[in-house]
Amino acid sequence: MGCSRLLMLGLLLNLSHCTEILEDDGDGGSEVEVQSDPVAVLGEEVYLRCLYHGNASITGSAWKRHRGGRVHRLAGFTNGTAFRRSTASLSFPASPTNLTVRMRVSGVDVEGEYVCVFESQDREFNKTVNLQVHVRPQTQLSVTAEMDNGTHYQSVRCSAEDGKPRAQIDWLINNKPPVKDYFSIERSDSPGRIGVSSAASILRFPTHLQDEGSVTCVVRHPTLASPVSTTVSVETFVAPRVSVQAEMRQRQEEEEEEEEDYWRVSCVASGGRPETLVSLVTTASDDDDEEEEPRRENGTDAGTSVYRLPVRTYEGHNVSCVFTQPKLAGPQTRTLQLPSFSLSGVRLLSEPVNELQASLELEEGQRDVSIGLEAVGNVPRYALFCQKAEASALPGGVAVVGSALTFQAPVGLLHAGLYVCEASYYRHRATVQINITVRPRPVLLPPSISLDLRSGPSGREVQCSAVGANPAATLSWGLPEGVAAVPSPRASSPLPDGRRSVTGVLALGTACFPRPLAVGCVIHHPLFPTPEYRSVAIPLCAPPNISLSSREEWRGGEEYTVARCRVVSVATAATVTWRLGGGADGGDGVEIDDLEGVEVRTEEGQRVGLEVTALSTLRLPTSLYSGRRLSCEAGGHPVLQHQERQHLLLPSLGAPVLNVSMGPGESDLWQAVCDYQAEGVEANLSWVLPAGSRGQQSRRSWSHGRTVRTRLTYRFALSSHEGDALTCLAEYRRRGSDKRTVHIPKYYISSLRVLNHTTRTKASHSGGRCVLKLSLHKSLPGQRILFEVEGNVPTHSITCQSSDGSFVKLEGDALAFPTGVEGRDEGLYTCLASFYHHRAELRLRVEVSSQDPQLANLVLVCVPSASAAAVLLAVALWVFCKLNPGARSKKQETSALTALVRPLSSPEKSKALVRRPDSQQYAHLDRYCIVSDVKSTV
Ligand SMILES: *[C@@H]1O[C@H](CO)[C@@H](O)[C@H](O)[C@H]1NC(C)=O
Ligand SMILES: *[C@@H]1O[C@H](CO)[C@@H](O)[C@H](O)[C@H]1NC(C)=O
Ligand SMILES: *[C@@H]1O[C@H](CO)[C@@H](O)[C@H](O)[C@H]1NC(C)=O
Ligand SMILES: *[C@@H]1O[C@H](CO)[C@@H](O)[C@H](O)[C@H]1NC(C)=O
Ligand SMILES: *[C@@H]1O[C@H](CO)[C@@H](O)[C@H](O)[C@H]1NC(C)=O
Ligand SMILES: *[C@@H]1O[C@H](CO)[C@@H](O)[C@H](O)[C@H]1NC(C)=O
Repeated sequence: MGCSRLLMLGLLLNLSHCTEILEDDGDGGSEVEVQSDPVAVLGEEVYLRCLYHGNASITGSAWKRHRGGRVHRLAGFTNGTAFRRSTASLSFPASPTNLTVRMRVSGVDVEGEYVCVFESQDREFNKTVNLQVHVRPQTQLSVTAEMDNGTHYQSVRCSAEDGKPRAQIDWLINNKPPVKDYFSIERSDSPGRIGVSSAASILRFPTHLQDEGSVTCVVRHPTLASPVSTTVSVETFVAPRVSVQAEMRQRQEEEEEEEEDYWRVSCVASGGRPETLVSLVTTASDDDDEEEEPRRENGTDAGTSVYRLPVRTYEGHNVSCVFTQPKLAGPQTRTLQLPSFSLSGVRLLSEPVNELQASLELEEGQRDVSIGLEAVGNVPRYALFCQKAEASALPGGVAVVGSALTFQAPVGLLHAGLYVCEASYYRHRATVQINITVRPRPVLLPPSISLDLRSGPSGREVQCSAVGANPAATLSWGLPEGVAAVPSPRASSPLPDGRRSVTGVLALGTACFPRPLAVGCVIHHPLFPTPEYRSVAIPLCAPPNISLSSREEWRGGEEYTVARCRVVSVATAATVTWRLGGGADGGDGVEIDDLEGVEVRTEEGQRVGLEVTALSTLRLPTSLYSGRRLSCEAGGHPVLQHQERQHLLLPSLGAPVLNVSMGPGESDLWQAVCDYQAEGVEANLSWVLPAGSRGQQSRRSWSHGRTVRTRLTYRFALSSHEGDALTCLAEYRRRGSDKRTVHIPKYYISSLRVLNHTTRTKASHSGGRCVLKLSLHKSLPGQRILFEVEGNVPTHSITCQSSDGSFVKLEGDALAFPTGVEGRDEGLYTCLASFYHHRAELRLRVEVSSQDPQLANLVLVCVPSASAAAVLLAVALWVFCKLNPGARSKKQETSALTALVRPLSSPEKSKALVRRPDSQQYAHLDRYCIVSDVKSTV
């Protein structure tokens, strides 16, 4: 392989060397440079280039050409002077070494070899140039058309003439080469003189297959910088839109009066190119009259062929248009069936059904009688002919006018009879027999008229009657504007004597009219020169009737007022609304919706006959709206101008009263009583008590009418709540709460005293207690020892016990000796004053003496600590009074200052004193006995 590669390289090198040698063909060719083989175009200019590059001294140079065995020097330099041959169309060369000249190409004969020669003293250098001449062709395009075996062909011929070399011709259709097989291309060449030749190409195609409107010929030639396209228009064919139409026409023949109907059948082939051939084919039999053959009309629109086909012949036949055109794939047929006609009968317009025979009764003297007749069938028109059966003509005054048998004169009795009427259209015929009877002139009777308004099952209705008339009266209604009512005529069957009654009913339904309206009935009758008019007034609808009632009911400890509003209206249900006014004469009030505690229940209206009832029930807590005015309003009804209302006054309820009291209760207990009294609303009562309270509560409630009372009693030991505040809390529904407080007083008994007795005391021997000593007169009756209790208790009880343990009877707060004192009354008495747990004790020694006891005894006063100073003051006062006789005389008998007080205070009291730290100074006084020497009488 490597060897062969080397061999190949060697061959290549050798070949290039050979080429160099070949190029250096001329003598000194390497020093002469020419443009090899220039091409010139006829009629243009070309440069012949030749340069000498060598070092030799050029003495002369020239372009030479061999013609006819001779050498012609065309242009050059000789002896330093430029020359050119006059017949050669060359320019002068530029210099002896630059022989470049311009040549005008005036003919193909300038083609050939030119030698460029440079001469020096001893050598000649030359090089040959081969000039080629091209000739630009002339393009021509033409179209021809021809028919070939019934087919339209077009041929487009494109030629490029007198070109050198020969031109190339191509075809483009819609910018694409014609590849379809229906195109044929025929090329031809023809050599011309002096080396030029002409090329031609013919493109041929059947016109109906080619749809492009132009064909382009493309010519390519070396003298043309780019291909030259030439376009030519060609003819194209367009398929027509084909259809068939038929319409009926009438032809008035000039000579005949009779009109003749014919079908005008149009075979339409529109928009086609070239023209479409049309022919008409019918199914009518051949033996028909020649007259009846389809006739083609002149002067129709382009593409449309019109034929006349008489109806009488072609009715029901098929007609076909056959269209032939190159663009159509074969003959196209469009077929139309012409309608066929029928005439099944003749009917009277007044009769609902189609009968072959009809009976008609006319009245004698009836005017303007016209019996409308109509042929039954689908004929486009028909002729109507009537005759009287027996007379084969119509009687005088009777004629067929239009499509009616018309009695132009008043009907007479002789017009009665059988009439035969025939409708005809060509061969179609139909008849009807009309048996006309003429009733002798009747006796005219006017109707008796009545107009009533009454209530029917579906509401109000107005009935208008025209009874016993001949002929029957006719009714019409006059309704006021806005009244939509449905009239329904009711004709009754005639009476035996021929009189007739007509009744019309106008159903007004349940409609309600807020303004006065009248409904009129208009009665027409031949005997009335002008129509009779009757009217009836429709009563107004009554305004809604409102009834408002109320009752009370208790629910959940509260009194409710239940109000019921019932609105009865006609036809249209009213709407019910509630309002709540301020007071007895308050304003309109407010709408009741959303007020607290109010419930409204509205029921759907019930309809009974014309009346409709709206019902609304309202429930509200009486106490919340006490004394206010409740209104029920009816609205939304056409009769109402304003709102209608009824109202009621809700009862004025007194404000709740809450009272508390306290005091002694049963069996040594105290009680706090909370009383609640109110109207319409109960309260929840409770005692708010200090913690640890252990009393008993009892509740009692009772009511009378709407008054409610509740009593909550709290029973307690006085000792457990002395000084406390007890609060009664009343909670109301919707009204918050209220409370009352009662304070339990703090009681005490500081001492029990003897008031009226002069006493003497001596230091007690019994338990260190003070003992009062008291002398009674032995024989004096009615003596009393008076006690007094000191303290804040509201009541008290005093008991005294003699030394033998027996209780002594007291008169009030006094120990009485009504019959005098005896020896057995002497002794030590222990007396006790008490109020619940508060107590005070007194010891009293009673002595009996026979003489008046003297007051000036020593008085031992045992005072409670707090009273010590007061007693000292009292003693001082007494001394003062003794010295002052005026003051003394007053006190002498009562001997107030002789009172002996035993310092036996109630346990509570002393305890309180002892407990008080700032009262220490009294503590040591607790058992002081203040002794004073006093003299007094009992
Ligand atoms: C060339 O030129 C020289 C001098 O100018 C002249 O003598 C001679 O005759 C010329 N030769 C020709 C052939 O014209
Ligand atoms: C030769 O002459 C032609 C024409 O006069 C000129 O266009 C061209 O430039 C010249 N060439 C040289 C190399 O002088
Ligand atoms: C060109 O030169 C060669 C060699 O010198 C010669 O043989 C030939 O004839 C010349 N051609 C012409 C046309 O003068
Ligand atoms: C002419 O056309 C018909 C049908 O189109 C065909 O049968 C017939 O051979 C054709 N004749 C020639 C000469 O092409
Ligand atoms: C119809 O055409 C016929 C035959 O060409 C001609 O004699 C006749 O006058 C035309 N009629 C009309 C109305 O153009
Ligand atoms: C015509 O009608 C009348 C009464 O209905 C009847 O008496 C008479 O026979 C009818 N005539 C014919 C021809 O039917």
